[in-house]
This record gives sequence, structure tokens and C-alpha cells, in this order.
Amino acid sequence: MNRAVNGPSATARGVAISALVAAENGERANLVVPQLLTRSGLDERDKAFATELAYGTLRMCRACDWLVGQFVHSPLEPQVRAAARAGAYQLAFMRVPAYAAVSATVGEAPRRARPLLNAVLRRVATLVEAGPVAWPDLGTRLSYPDWVIRRLGEDIGPERAVAALQQMNQAASPSVRADGYVQDPGSQAVAEYVAALAQGRPGPVLDLCAAPGGKATLVAHSAPFVVGADLAASRANLVTGNAQRLGLDNLAVVVADGTAPPFRPDSFTAVLVDAPCTGLGVLRRRPDARWRVRPEDTDRLASLQRRLLGGAAPLVAPGGALVYSVCTLTRAETVDVDDWLAHELGPGWGEVVAPPGPPWEPLGRGALLLPQTAGTDGMYLLALRRSH
Ligand SMILES: C[S@@+](CC[C@H](N)C(=O)[O-])C[C@H]1O[C@@H](n2cnc3c(N)ncnc32)[C@H](O)[C@@H]1O
Repeated sequence: MNRAVNGPSATARGVAISALVAAENGERANLVVPQLLTRSGLDERDKAFATELAYGTLRMCRACDWLVGQFVHSPLEPQVRAAARAGAYQLAFMRVPAYAAVSATVGEAPRRARPLLNAVLRRVATLVEAGPVAWPDLGTRLSYPDWVIRRLGEDIGPERAVAALQQMNQAASPSVRADGYVQDPGSQAVAEYVAALAQGRPGPVLDLCAAPGGKATLVAHSAPFVVGADLAASRANLVTGNAQRLGLDNLAVVVADGTAPPFRPDSFTAVLVDAPCTGLGVLRRRPDARWRVRPEDTDRLASLQRRLLGGAAPLVAPGGALVYSVCTLTRAETVDVDDWLAHELGPGWGEVVAPPGPPWEPLGRGALLLPQTAGTDGMYLLALRRSH
């Protein structure tokens, strides 16, 4: 742990560099950054700077590595590599003046590495100041793995993919609901859509993958009764905690495997399957996720999504609706899952419920919300009604 993150000598750059080292060691940035900030003693302004520096450097890591790699050709030890990346990020993407960025960042590196780091960052500063950087390729410029760019380009079209990926390089501004819960407007739209489907109908609503409870709690504000299930007990506890905090006594929480749910058939007026997914529509919220998700995750998760829908469909009462949503944009997890549903569900499932209108756009029988259209998270939604 960097000496500078504890106590009165903590600096914003020291905190950010420690977070980068921890993330390299496999820790989740979304967890480690708040922990480091809490014990840093930094004021709010410095905390905001440290957060932007840590998350931004993680997002733009490939671009930063390329900038640094122009001037240093041997591997750097983790602490020095993190400082070099953070320095490059300040120079290229935060537009911090070189006189401030270089010396303050170098001061956070181990003493023996400072001359090298100083020389490298000065040269990065010169390169950045010389005008538009001649990035070697799109993947480096946008700072995503090549497979993500390729996959989304194939699945939603190259121009839309690039616009989505660019938008997800910007930090999300917090969006707070009327009840104080922080939730992206796209997710709120999904919950409101489910709530509207259940409006005026008898019978409870089930959120089969409910944790941490964002959608279930919003639905519970208008539906008479909601059940929130989740596979992980620790995550189900998050739903309970959120329901208590919001004073919702009509939201029951169950630990259950949604692929084999412990509920009677035909018992819910609406079942939401807000399934685990690759999360390629919410990368702005999870700065390190783009480096963790693997191409093979798409098929593995699509298989889980199908099994969850297979578990959910029999629980819908006649006249009720099955709603599928994911916060990703891949074909395998959206329209391909719907193709499977069209084939798999019986004749009682012919009716498609009209998806939400703009900013959502029609995609197959469902709808897609692109991150760039309204500055929300990216997601997909599909609803089918069971007639009998
Ligand atoms: C996208 S998140 C749900 C977000 C939630 N609906 C909300 O709005 O706050 C997916 C959830 O599915 C859960 N999950 C994963 N596998 C599951 C399974 N087999 N059965 C039920 N839940 C599962 C995960 O623990 C995770 O909490």
C-alpha cells in the first residue's frame, strides 16, 4: 500500500495510483476506490480528482499504455507502471498542465524510478501538446479490447458501436430517483415499464434476478406486492436493505436459483428477468470491466439467460407478461435470446407487448436503448404476454 494514502500526507494522485495497483491485482475499482478515499482524509475536491484519475486511467488504460510505450520499452514494476499511466491520463485526457501533472505524479513513484518516470512523462507531454495524437488504431484510441470493438461493430453496426463506446468513456453523472435511490434513467425506464404492465392487475410481480434491488424497489412503489429473488444470499441482503431503507413492506426477498425457481406455476402477473450479462452497455459505470469481460462470456451468459427465461416463463399467470432485460448490446444476449424464446415458448405466448418508444429503438420484437441516444446506460428490453 502506498504510504501516501493513509493519514494527513495522503494525496489525490497517491490514492489514484494505489487504486490502479489494487485493480491490477484483481480488486474491483468500484470497491477499492471508495475504501481508499474513506481513509485518505482528502477534502471533497481532491476526492473528486482522485476518483476521476483512477476511473479514467482504468478506462483509458490501453491508450495510456501506448503513450507511455512510445518512450519506454522495458516492463515497469507495478507501482511505476500505475504512476506512468496516471501521468499519461492527466496529460492526454484531463488536460492537466504538464508542470502540474508531471512533478506531482513523479513524486508518488518510488524514489529510484523517479528520473525515468520524469523523463517519460515529459516526453508524453510534448507528444500530446504537439497536436492530435496519431493513434495506431481504433482500439488504442478508444481504449477497448479489439474484440469488443469488433463484436459490437458486427452486432449494432460500426458507427453506432463507436458512438456507444465513446459515450461509455465518459463518467456517468448520478441520477437520483424521487425516493433518493441512485439509478440510471435507462434502468428506471425498465422498472416503470414493468410497473405499467402490472398496473391494475391482480397478482404479484416477480423480479427473478433482483439484487441490489433497483428495479424491484421502483416497481414496489406502485405494484401491490413484489417478490425479489436472487441466487446469492449476500446480494439478496442488499435488496432487503434497500427495501427497508425505502420503507417498502410489500417487497419480499427470496434467495433462489432462477433457473429452477421455487414458486408455483401461473402465480405472477409479471415476471422480470433482468439477467446477468456481459454488461457491455454499462462500461462507463464499471471502469475496469472492459478488461475483464471475455469473448466467451457472451455465449456462457446467453446460455444462463435462456435457462433463467426457461425457469421464469411457467411462473407467469395467463394474461400476464414475461419481461427480459439486459444491460448489454450483443446480439447473442438480445435478439438471439428472443429467437430462442420464439422457438421455445408454446403457442400461448404469441403476443408481443409494445416496447417503449424513443429514446428506445425497435430491435426485433424488443427494443434497444443505445448509450449515446439519451446519455443513459445501454440496454435491451423485450416483453411477451401469455394469452393462455
Ligand atoms: C443485472 S443484475 C440484477 C439487477 C437488479 N434487477 C436491479 O435492478 O437492481 C443480475 C443479478 O442476477 C443474479 N443471478 C445470477 N445468477 C442467478 C440465478 N441463477 N438465479 C437468480 N439470480 C441470479 C446476480 O446475483 C445479480 O444480482
